[in-house]
Amino acid sequence: MCGIVGYSGYRDASDVLVSGLTRLEYRGYDSAGIAVFEKDGNVTQVKAKGELKNLKNKLSDEYKPVGITGIGHTRWATHGEPSDLNSHPHRGRRVTIVHNGIIENYAELKAFLTDNGYEFFTATDTEVAANLLDYYYKGDPLRCITDFMSEVVGSFALGIMFDDIKDTIYAVRKESPLIVGVGDNEAFIASDVTAILEYTKKYYLLEHNEIAKLTANSVEFYNHRLKRFEKELKIADWDLNAAEKGGYPHYMIKEIHEQPTAVKTTITPRIKNGLPDLSECGITAEKLQTYRRIFIVACGTAMYAGMVGKYLIEGLARVPVEVDVASEFRYRNPIIGKGDLVIIISQSGETADSLEALKISKSLGAETLGIVNVKGSSIARNSDMLIYTHAGPEIAVASTKAYMVQLSVMYLFAFKLALAKGAISIEECERLTKGLAATPELIQNSIDTVINDCQFVATKLVAADDLFYLGRGLDYALSLEGSLKLKEITYIHSESYASGELKHGPISLICEGMPVIAIATQKSLIPKTVSNVEEVKARGAMTILVCDEETVFGEETQKALDYIIKVPKTDEVLMPMSAIVPLQLLAYYTSVNKGIDMDKPRNLAKSVTVE
Ligand code: G6P
Repeated sequence: MCGIVGYSGYRDASDVLVSGLTRLEYRGYDSAGIAVFEKDGNVTQVKAKGELKNLKNKLSDEYKPVGITGIGHTRWATHGEPSDLNSHPHRGRRVTIVHNGIIENYAELKAFLTDNGYEFFTATDTEVAANLLDYYYKGDPLRCITDFMSEVVGSFALGIMFDDIKDTIYAVRKESPLIVGVGDNEAFIASDVTAILEYTKKYYLLEHNEIAKLTANSVEFYNHRLKRFEKELKIADWDLNAAEKGGYPHYMIKEIHEQPTAVKTTITPRIKNGLPDLSECGITAEKLQTYRRIFIVACGTAMYAGMVGKYLIEGLARVPVEVDVASEFRYRNPIIGKGDLVIIISQSGETADSLEALKISKSLGAETLGIVNVKGSSIARNSDMLIYTHAGPEIAVASTKAYMVQLSVMYLFAFKLALAKGAISIEECERLTKGLAATPELIQNSIDTVINDCQFVATKLVAADDLFYLGRGLDYALSLEGSLKLKEITYIHSESYASGELKHGPISLICEGMPVIAIATQKSLIPKTVSNVEEVKARGAMTILVCDEETVFGEETQKALDYIIKVPKTDEVLMPMSAIVPLQLLAYYTSVNKGIDMDKPRNLAKSVTVE
């Protein structure tokens, strides 16, 4: 969702901005633009609706501004349709800005500014912000920015250029993320560090209500009272290779293949003497014993990782768990407090609803645990306890490796909790942990085993308009993620149902040839799920079953199964780590067959930083 880049240095600013925006493409966008201080001191903007290549074409075919300072933006429309006109940057009379976030009181501010003689040409809240900055600008940029901050309601990360202050960029943030990068004789702003890795690994994290002033040779920070202060310089531990395709046709398939390594990096340091050890994250057995209830709150894929967590925690530790969609949790006046643990799961650590759910939980007295991939992100910084997942940068919008490492952390946590609560013995915990430690090989094995089957079965899914996923227990939790993956990147309407619920309504939708993908890896539930598959087969469905390699079916059952995808077996409780792989690959290859760019699916954003 909206990407910001800014540059002041010695290189061609247009080139740096476009290269930064290219690296932020994964966030999701529908138009893009840049503004550059030209040598004559004028600010020139170039904007284009649609993919970044449209902007690149404009820059090469029409005009490319020449200068060493500029700001750029990929826009994910909130106010006003995607169009050249509504694309950022936006201008006030003497001010140019790029913006990520939402100005909630923009209508009121627009009326105020109109009364004061300002004109508006776009439907965006950002143009209002640009003009409000102009209104407050009396020659002192910092004062202007703090005046702006005191008027505006909502979230914003802004890159700002004032016409009369050449080769200087100002940046400010509230809620929406922004970093400030520094190199030799150059400085950057960006929505995240991937945008600048090509030039530098050194960066500062801008916090809420902090202002930065950047030139090629200096970076200064001010608080909202205009007091200057120093910040801690951070060094990114992601390298550029990790953010590139490395020979794979798409980021998504590269990231699927990175899963074994990502899981290994995430779990290895947290297993000591054969048992899970989360003490470096602030999680001790004594602490775990005190929790009465657990809430897992997240969005999208992260929430579905939480669903697996619920089955694990309740099954192993016997502690009640509620899983909540963050956007609902924050408005449902949740009944939580002391003695409750709220786990927030987020790849980006910046999802607005999840962040707000975290703040509400803290204000109600619950303890909070963040499970986050992006270092130094807002959720990471605001959680009482924190477990970083080590997936590295995930560029594809459809999450795969981030989900897998979230699952691996759910296991570590569930095992640790179960042991602390006395619900399992040390020996059992050691056995489970040993199984978890072997999952990197298991996942690799699963990829190798199912990849051809998935490529083949995907050819049978391309023509589908509707599709069902079925499962029971852990397999149901998994099927939710499988279904989300497919709909995100193939645009096929897909729903996931608990198999037992099928007869209570959804079965009426089954028609001739409709694909139904069932997951059956939990021994005691296999016969039940298989009967449900037989029921849909009897009504004309095309059936696909994902099960472990040791499952055998009778002749009659075989007839009901059009395609069987067998995954490597492990302990039943760990089967999701093996069985999610074909669900990811089925979605990926179906998307490939449909000719969709699954790394940037329509309408979706990787990081949803507004409500
Ligand atoms: C968006 C993305 C999803 C992601 C969700 C939560 O909707 O498109 O892929 O699962 O946000 O993101 P988070 O960064 O909080 O895990």
